[in-house]
Amino acid sequence: MKEIFERVSVRSYTDQPVEAEKIEDILRAGMCAPSAGNERPWHFVVLKDPKDFLPLMQISEHLQMLPQAKYVTQKRYRFDFWVQDCCAALENMLIEAKHLGLGAVWCGIYPDTEKIIRLCCMYGLPETVEVLALMPIGYPAIERKVHDRYKSDRVHIGRWENVLRDGATLDSLGFSDKRSASDEQMITS
Ligand SMILES: Cc1cc2nc3c(=O)[nH]c(=O)nc-3n(C[C@H](O)[C@H](O)[C@H](O)COP(=O)(O)O)c2cc1C
Repeated sequence: MKEIFERVSVRSYTDQPVEAEKIEDILRAGMCAPSAGNERPWHFVVLKDPKDFLPLMQISEHLQMLPQAKYVTQKRYRFDFWVQDCCAALENMLIEAKHLGLGAVWCGIYPDTEKIIRLCCMYGLPETVEVLALMPIGYPAIERKVHDRYKSDRVHIGRWENVLRDGATLDSLGFSDKRSASDEQMITS
């Protein structure tokens, strides 16, 4: 899926407004994410009106760039996996934004309690709700180059000490034709 390989954080945007259908698509993508016990613990607060963004500037210097913003929040649910669940939703949303020709960036809020409390006060969130992240979204003002980030030395075969040598591929280890792994392809400590 090329969007996964081409996605980068986008932090500056044109003045072009983001269409409502695109925002809905992004929300739908978020809500397609897997979640523990299928709890789907997320709620999203969409900020469209620029006057709603202004208070955000007090939250983070990174947020000087908001054409449209979404919060991902959660209420208390049965399983304690809400962070993982909402992160999966956020990642889906970043990829869908890219697919739609938009740019976005994940701005972390949780676990900064002070920021969470301030956001809850600003936007009327109940105390039972946590704020995981903010996600500004807009049409990218600049194109960023994408680099290959694959690192074979982050891949361990079977046991931690068996690390792939630089440039070695899983195929060269015989994954596809069931040959046994070649020691030459691995650094074994
Ligand atoms: C949990 C989390 C918190 C982040 N918080 C911020 C942030 O506050 N401000 C920001 O500009 N980028 C933030 N980012 C984006 C990262 O800086 C970015 O993903 C990373 O530098 C890699 O760049 P890329 O997204 O272009 O691949 C955050 C990303 C994650 C996953």
